[in-house]
Amino acid sequence: MNLRSPLQIAIDGPAASGKTTVARALARRLRVLYLDTGAMYRALAYLALRTGTDVDNGAALARLVAAQPIEVRLDQAAPLGFCITAGGQELDEAALQSKEVTAIVSAVAAHAEVRSAMVRAQRHIAQGSPVVMAGRDIGTVVLPGARVKIYLTASPEARIARRRAQLEESGVNVDARKLAEEIQERDRLDETRAVSPLAPAHDAHVIDSSDIDAAGVVEEICRLASS
Ligand code: DC
Repeated sequence: MNLRSPLQIAIDGPAASGKTTVARALARRLRVLYLDTGAMYRALAYLALRTGTDVDNGAALARLVAAQPIEVRLDQAAPLGFCITAGGQELDEAALQSKEVTAIVSAVAAHAEVRSAMVRAQRHIAQGSPVVMAGRDIGTVVLPGARVKIYLTASPEARIARRRAQLEESGVNVDARKLAEEIQERDRLDETRAVSPLAPAHDAHVIDSSDIDAAGVVEEICRLASS
């Protein structure tokens, strides 16, 4: 372990596995910064919808993000745990988690041109300060030297129940069957894409959170970080 490099904890896993809840709570506990990288892909999906950019055209999406940069400011006190702007407009949870954005985000995130811009920005953020970063490729691509790598999974039932509770809390009623289909389809797209598909890093600790609450997972990661 290089004691001079800032602490980096990578948390990857499929949709609704509890990554963002755990990563945010862990960052609070360790008093370090937190970033959910999925929000950056969602911000680009939001921009694509707003500008009518074809989500199957990687070059057009790369031009879009170059012209209207996605900027992140890490701030524990912000509602999301960080502030994110796209083309100068601040985006809140409702914008990022809308069903229109969710429906296209995996297609947006599949392009090599998009991923290289995002990975560059994410590495730059992690350079300066200790950080807990959540996503799909943090341990494998973005921060391969992270001190602790976690691959968080949960049973499909647990993931559907969690996502449903989360949506209902923000006032959105959802059909469980539709939600299951949506999660399954996003997993399929994220796991089978050609560039940086979702997979555990070879040195990741796999944690199944089906029967452990977020506090228990945080506890386990703290134990791994200090061992
Ligand atoms: O975690 P999430 O559901 O907000 O992520 C939205 C999409 O972004 C997800 O379908 C996959 C993609 N993503 C990615 O490809 N790489 C990341 N590091 C984070 C998210």
